Amino acid sequence: MIHVTRITIGIAVVGAFALAVATTTTLPSPNDLITKAKDSGLESIPAGKALTQYQQQKLKETGIASGYSPLLTKEQIELGKKLYFDPRLSSSNLISCNTCHNLGLAGTDVVPAAIGHKWAANTQNLNSPTVLNSVFNDVQFWDGRAHHLGDQAQGPIENPVEMSAPSKLAVEKIVSIPEYTQEFKKAYGEKVKIDFKLIADTIALYEMTLVTPSRYDKFLNGDTKALTKAEQDGLDTFIEKGCTSCHAGINLGGSMQAFSVVDTYKFEKIGGFKGDKDGLVKTPTLRNIMQTAPYFHNGQYWEITDAIKEMGRIQLGITITDKEAQSIATFFKSLDGQMPSVTYPLLPPVSSKTPKPTF
Ligand code: HEC
Ligand code: HEC
Repeated sequence: MIHVTRITIGIAVVGAFALAVATTTTLPSPNDLITKAKDSGLESIPAGKALTQYQQQKLKETGIASGYSPLLTKEQIELGKKLYFDPRLSSSNLISCNTCHNLGLAGTDVVPAAIGHKWAANTQNLNSPTVLNSVFNDVQFWDGRAHHLGDQAQGPIENPVEMSAPSKLAVEKIVSIPEYTQEFKKAYGEKVKIDFKLIADTIALYEMTLVTPSRYDKFLNGDTKALTKAEQDGLDTFIEKGCTSCHAGINLGGSMQAFSVVDTYKFEKIGGFKGDKDGLVKTPTLRNIMQTAPYFHNGQYWEITDAIKEMGRIQLGITITDKEAQSIATFFKSLDGQMPSVTYPLLPPVSSKTPKPTF
């Protein structure tokens, strides 16, 4: 068996003397690393039937589109996709979910703070998290205020600095488009009641399909060659440093955790976001992290290695060297997943009854 040796040099300053202490740690064998990763709470994305079961379980727990069955049908998902891409759900007819969660850009917008209605920035300078894999989050939003995707999707439609369409207007617009009414009937049956909740829930059904399995999942599932030695080394560093105490589960994140645990976040003043009432923040997923800069709730870091070092400093009270940060970043590359294939949907035309855009 081949063991790769990693050398960590720690310098302890004692009085006037500086002692160099060299310790060697050994990279576990691939199979041992898989066990170690699982013991640290890391999980792969469920595949095939297991994914369907996971989605159906989530639907049961959350009440998304409750009262209708079956759920997650092709018709519902296709309709949810149209609504996701439809800017007419905004009062200006210009902003869709895809504006800020661009599926061609790993579900993000590549700006520090989201920009919405009338070019207004998020009032707390909040960055748009990716929608990819959001089905695996325990809670949604940086302060975790939404418990599921259906609940979540109502927020941005109404938010004055996002899509700025009061629920009544959003429903009027959809119902005024004859093809949409037809498609809701096809998706849920003739008796469907097209209300604001069902519109948001239908978008949520589409979002539930946006999952991105990666080489990292293959590795966790036992394909020991799926990660290079350098990536395995990075995964081991990630675990050894203690990152998995918060970045675990299927999403390597998704749960509420303390922020600025041992030191203060360097850019805490920008936007004034303080987390939930207990100061907790939703730990972002690290899946596709190499594609979702800028980082942190107010998008102040563009370099992943800087973000990694900041995490060590403020969350763990440790100094992460350039080499270690690089190693973790090498591992992060393996979290780039297979993107859902998205064909841009053709959206049905407005009718004379459709409310006109307002700015
Ligand atoms: C103007 C930009 C903008 C638009 C438009 C927008 N969002 Fe967001 N989205 C954000 C921001 C910013 C956040 C974080 C806000 C917060 O935490 O308070 C967010 C959060 C989310 C989250 C939570 C993800 C997580 O990890 O916590 C989901 C899911 C989401 N949006 C889906 C949607 C959907 C669906 C739509 C369309 C109905 C939409 N967004 C429209 C900017 C936007
Ligand atoms: C105590 C819990 C905790 C620990 C430990 C922790 N993190 Fe985090 N991490 C968070 C939270 C919470 C956030 C979101 C903070 C914010 O933006 O307000 C975050 C954000 C991040 C981000 C930015 C993600 C994005 O999309 O903006 C990266 C990258 C990251 N962490 C990597 C790491 C690494 C690497 C380690 C180990 C060195 C680590 N974290 C340790 C909780 C933790």
